[in-house]
Amino acid sequence: MEITEEEKVDVSKAIEILDAYEGVKGALMPILQKIQTVYKYLPNDALELVSERQNVSMSQIHGVVTFYAQFYLTPPGKHILRLCQGTACHVKGADDIMDKLVERHQVAHKQTTEDGLYTFEEVACLGACAMAPVMTVDGKVFGELTVSKTEGILDEYAE
Ligand code: FES
Repeated sequence: MEITEEEKVDVSKAIEILDAYEGVKGALMPILQKIQTVYKYLPNDALELVSERQNVSMSQIHGVVTFYAQFYLTPPGKHILRLCQGTACHVKGADDIMDKLVERHQVAHKQTTEDGLYTFEEVACLGACAMAPVMTVDGKVFGELTVSKTEGILDEYAE
């Protein structure tokens, strides 16, 4: 059987994190956050250890990680692009930008481009409605977007 990337994950750091929370009740969120900080996503092998050591079922863990947008179940791209789909941005054309990005990069919400460069996310209001439409790239805010401006910004990150 072919060994996948997932099977090659070194879980020693996840074990260290779990050791630090041994016997601590209700620690699922901080454990998951710390594991994600280390691995940049939540490897399945690490989640199985969390399930075992924290006595929480895998289905409960999956419920949590799929509910919170902060968690990734696969390695994210080099740059995280969050495009606001809130009302102000929607009214100012965010859908056109998203359509163009999806068409050009062949990705959907929470997917990563084939070259591993960008992970796309559609998000609710980013709190910068006066600059609508708005997106963030690795946390940096860009506003008053157009399709071509957005493409230009992404090109700057294409390294
Ligand atoms: S609706 Fe997009 S920043 Fe508020």
